[in-house]
Amino acid sequence: MKILVVGSGAREHALVHRLHADPDVTELHAVPGNPGIEALARCHGDVDVLDGPSVAALARDLGVDLVVVGPEAPLVAGVADAVRAAGIDCFGPSAAAARLEGSKSFAKDVMRAAGVPTARSRTCRDADEVAAALDLFGAPHVVKADGLAAGKGVVVTSDRQTALDHAAACLGETPSTRASDGGEDHGPRVVVEEYLDGPEVSLFCVSDGEHVVALEPAQDFKRLGDGDEGPNTGGMGAYSPLPWAPPGLVDEVMRTVARPTIAEMARRGTPFAGVLYVGLALTSRGIRVVEFNARFGDPETQVVLARLRSSLAGLLRAAARGELLPFPEPNWSDDAAVTVVVAAEGYPSGPTTGDRIVGADDLGDAYALHAGTRRDGDAIVSAGGRVLTVVATGPDLAAARERAYAGVDRVGLRGSRHRTDIALAAAQGRVGTP
Ligand code: AMP
Ligand code: GLY
Repeated sequence: MKILVVGSGAREHALVHRLHADPDVTELHAVPGNPGIEALARCHGDVDVLDGPSVAALARDLGVDLVVVGPEAPLVAGVADAVRAAGIDCFGPSAAAARLEGSKSFAKDVMRAAGVPTARSRTCRDADEVAAALDLFGAPHVVKADGLAAGKGVVVTSDRQTALDHAAACLGETPSTRASDGGEDHGPRVVVEEYLDGPEVSLFCVSDGEHVVALEPAQDFKRLGDGDEGPNTGGMGAYSPLPWAPPGLVDEVMRTVARPTIAEMARRGTPFAGVLYVGLALTSRGIRVVEFNARFGDPETQVVLARLRSSLAGLLRAAARGELLPFPEPNWSDDAAVTVVVAAEGYPSGPTTGDRIVGADDLGDAYALHAGTRRDGDAIVSAGGRVLTVVATGPDLAAARERAYAGVDRVGLRGSRHRTDIALAAAQGRVGTP
């Protein structure tokens, strides 16, 4: 099978890393790829990944059998639609289905219609509606930009003024969104919702538009600092499995969240084929969906795929072709996997770039997946906020952690930062939040 992977982050490097080891895969390409991916796939950096017809033309010229779209922006821009229109199998939802991630208010609407447990919420169009919703739900306040915001659109705060300010910024700055189904201009919106307590879990549910297969759950560490201090980020580390998770969790999420959502999307005439990323809070009142994404999570993918034993290419192709039934359930290693993000100085507000990275090629029992890196002559330099993710596996979480952190210590990058408590609580037998 010849495959083209779209994207340039550590998640795409993880996908390519796994596909490269897959006996079903004969040729691998990436667009645009990154310096780490270059070692495993031919990279095509000259194509705009938000331009569906260009990506489809590349896929056709390369004669690939399958296109796998990593990030949300190309999905929301309709890249999967363009590839499918060119007659090529594509793993990733249509633009209409990717609205599950592209619009928080749309996702809430689908969840309501499908009876999916989630935080109560109000979609607000002006400051008065925001103030009323903040009063309704009380503190801590949760305020979310409606559109894509690269992990920076959500503020969770006990300070009412901070919540009001974030809502005002979202309402003032969000460009008008045009619904792809009706063409009606909705204008800027912000979602205010009730606060959910409890540990978070990320579960990737692979769907062909009708059937659903769950991968192994993982946990992400969204806050910048140890002990969950500091601002939200794209994710600072992850691990899998979750020894503390209640038995039956995956079955419950499949029954109450994934299958009803996939059925509701099909009912609306916009079937969702791809990864439905279910972000969950395990609250004292039961599971609640915190967010849906329309793609694999980053950095959770790094640990989930490190444990996958069966063919990833086969699974993604079956999903792309509507053939998930009777596809065999994925097979998992009993090993644990831990990933730690090495971020640039100043991340997330203003990361410094252009600093030389040394040592990442040889991390002992760990390996580095590239995210914000680029070539500069013979050197690899930082080029973004999350620079690398270091991954290791081991017989248990403690061993995987030790290997991952030994790997992190071998990376040389001036001013870099990382969390030191990824998977710590879980490795010590506690519930996996610091
Ligand atoms: P989202 O982009 O919706 O995933 O939100 C980013 C992060 O903000 C989540 O992973 C949570 O850590 C936090 N968050 C979002 N919604 C809530 C909520 N209702 N209650 C508590 N924390 C939340
Ligand atoms: N790790 C969070 C995300 O991928 O959205």
